[in-house]
Amino acid sequence: MAKIIAIINEKGGVGKTATATTLAYLLSKRGHRTALLDFDGQGHSSIIFGVKNPNKLEVTINTLLRKLVEDEPLPEPESYIIKTGCGVDLIPSNTQLFTLERNLCNVDFRERILTQYIDTIKDSYEYIIIDCMPQMGTPMINVMMCADSIIIPTQAELLSAQGLAELLKHHQAIQRNSNHRLRIEGILITMDSPNTILSAQVNELIQRGFADKVPIFKTHIPRSIKVAEAVLHHQTICEFLPGNPAAIAYGQFADELLSGGHGKIAERSV
Ligand SMILES: Nc1ncnc2c1ncn2[C@@H]1O[C@H](COP(=O)(O)OP(=O)(O)OP(=O)(O)O)[C@@H](O)[C@H]1O
Ligand SMILES: [Mg+2]
Repeated sequence: MAKIIAIINEKGGVGKTATATTLAYLLSKRGHRTALLDFDGQGHSSIIFGVKNPNKLEVTINTLLRKLVEDEPLPEPESYIIKTGCGVDLIPSNTQLFTLERNLCNVDFRERILTQYIDTIKDSYEYIIIDCMPQMGTPMINVMMCADSIIIPTQAELLSAQGLAELLKHHQAIQRNSNHRLRIEGILITMDSPNTILSAQVNELIQRGFADKVPIFKTHIPRSIKVAEAVLHHQTICEFLPGNPAAIAYGQFADELLSGGHGKIAERSV
C-alpha cells in the first residue's frame, strides 16, 4: 500500500509544485512505483509533467471526485492516468478543480471523498505524492484526511514563515480529531539564498519558532533561475540539469526523507 505524502502550504509560490514534481521524479528514478496527484486547479504539476493544455483533458481528479459524489463507477485507471516519460504516473488536474469546494458543500462525508478515490489506486504504488493548492478549505481537509504525512515547503522569507503557525494548527486539529496517523515529515526551506542576511535571519526565526515542535529538513533548496527554466522544458530541475545546486539539494532532501533522519526535532543548530 502506498505511502501518501502531501506537499502543503496555504501560502502561494513557496515551491510546493517544484518540490512535489521533483520528489516524485526522484522516487521514481530510485525505483519506487510513484504517482503524482495534481490537486491544484492551476494544473502546474500536470504542465511540468508534459500536459500542454490541462483544460483539454477529459478526465481529471475533479471528474473522478464528482463521479464518487454522484455514486457513479470510476473509469479504469489505465484510461486516465498519464504515464509520463520520466516514469511517474500522473493524475492530472485542470481549472475544473476550482469548483470542488462549492460542489462538495452539501455532500455527506465530504471530507472523505479524496480518501475514497485514493483507496482505488493505493495498492498500485509505493508512493503517492500530492501537490496541493495554496488555500485551506474542504479540498485541503480532504488531503489531510487521506495523507500519511505532509511536507511543508517554506520560502526563506519572513511572510512565508509567518503562515506556518496557522498550518500547524490545522494539522493538529485534524490529527487529534480524525486522522491520527497524519505526521509532519518536516519543513523544507526553499528558494534559499545562502550567505545572505535575510536567509540567516529567516532561518533563525524558523528554528526559534518551530524547531521544538516540527522537524526541519537539514537540506535547504537554493534559489536558482534554472528551476523556473526547467518548467519551460516540461521537466523537473533534476532531469533538466542534474548538476545544478538546486537539483543536488533536492537529491539530498530525498535522501533525508527516505532515511528518516530528518524525523528528529530541533537537530539543526543556528
Ligand atoms: N529553488 C527555486 N529557485 C528558483 N525558482 C524556483 C525555485 N523553486 C521554485 N521556483 C519557481 O518559483 C515559482 C513558484 O514555485 P512553485 O510553483 O513550485 O510554488 P507553489 O508553492 O507550487 O505555487 P502555488 O501556490 O501557486 O501553487 C515558480 O515559477 C517556480 O519555477
Ligand atoms: Mg503549485
